[in-house]
Amino acid sequence: MATSPRDPAWLRSGAPHVWRPYCQHQTAPTPLAVVGAHGSRLVLADGRELVDGVASWWTAAHGYNHPHIAARVEEQLRRLPHVAFGGLANEPAYALAERLAALLAPLSRVFFVESGSVSVEVALKMAVQSFHNRGEPRRRRIVCFENAYHGDTLATMALSDPVSGMHHAFAGMGIDAIHLPVPRADDGGAFEEAFRSVAGEVAGVVIEPLVQCAGGMRFHEPETLQRLRHACDEHGVWLIFDEIATGFFRTGARFALDAAGVVPDIVTIGKALTGGTLPLAAVVASEAVFACFLSEQADRALQHGPTYMGNALACAAAHGSLDLFERGDFAARVARLEALLRGRLGALRTRADVVDVRVLGAIGVVEMKPGTAPASADFAERGVFLRPLRLPHADVVYVMPPLTIEEPDTNRLLDAIDDALAA
Ligand SMILES: Cc1ncc(COP(=O)(O)O)c(C=O)c1O
Repeated sequence: MATSPRDPAWLRSGAPHVWRPYCQHQTAPTPLAVVGAHGSRLVLADGRELVDGVASWWTAAHGYNHPHIAARVEEQLRRLPHVAFGGLANEPAYALAERLAALLAPLSRVFFVESGSVSVEVALKMAVQSFHNRGEPRRRRIVCFENAYHGDTLATMALSDPVSGMHHAFAGMGIDAIHLPVPRADDGGAFEEAFRSVAGEVAGVVIEPLVQCAGGMRFHEPETLQRLRHACDEHGVWLIFDEIATGFFRTGARFALDAAGVVPDIVTIGKALTGGTLPLAAVVASEAVFACFLSEQADRALQHGPTYMGNALACAAAHGSLDLFERGDFAARVARLEALLRGRLGALRTRADVVDVRVLGAIGVVEMKPGTAPASADFAERGVFLRPLRLPHADVVYVMPPLTIEEPDTNRLLDAIDDALAA
């Protein structure tokens, strides 16, 4: 089989057998063949290096191939890569639970899974089963928000926006979700009124705090989260923050909940938890949630337990990532990145087809009219990797690079956006 550098043999022979994510195979171009990565750069098979503006779906917070994370994983690989979590315990997972509980105190109980979607599923199960265990089985509906995205499994699809989200083929499946507009300062208490009418049937309220990411990179104020906390307290409903994308300094604070000064009852985390090296997510719950599962009856236990739960290698990677978060001053680093993004992206506001420009922490967003954003290939030609969101109401060009990206690479990203929009 002939091989060109852009199109190596393994890609050509494997492509007829791989079903790619979110991919219309009939029209999609061939994916870029990546053979290595370092810092904020992807190394392609043809030798090109692209600055990665999306950090592998927002995971590679410390940049690629960080030697400290690699060392922790290698050490664990030699000792014990994996052991089942049912009836058995491993040190990296137990030590990680303690560490995460310290970061998210007063939340204290950590349930490990392998993906963000499943962590949200588990959070929903915690909410629904807690009421079932308490003899309130009627409370099983979930309040969520327009433009939300919480994952691709059945229940998380049901939470995602039913109109603008990508999951409308599955409408009505999964979980009984009630979509409300995100509370805004000028909504005249509309959220509280709508919530009051359904609260007696609701087990939980789920939100991506401060930024709704895949649903359009939309921001809301910390006060929104304070209002949700207040409403949930008033009606005895669990408040769930999905920090899978916002956690670990993406919005500037360690967690968005820190910035908002709100303690939810359940938090989901993932993505940057392992710095983009191994799949791991976690649900962290309060003792009050946990207490609902304590009983002499075995069937009151939380009914969940994935095969690779608490995987020791993934937990070792998370320890490496947390070590790095502890050592670096990430709040200051992200503040510098935010200033740079603000300065340069702000200038794009007047460009044709640009509807809005907004920046929060290490998230820079250029919202454009539907169908007008450059393609990924246009950005790759300019030396960067970006993947605009294509929604019914907008195209969203965004950067969420490694938090450790250096200024020259950030400028290369921003130059590429500037240039591609001008073309
Ligand atoms: C806020 C949020 N929740 C959940 C998920 C799903 O995570 P995963 O892709 O690991 O299943 C994502 C993924 O982008 C996300 O951004």
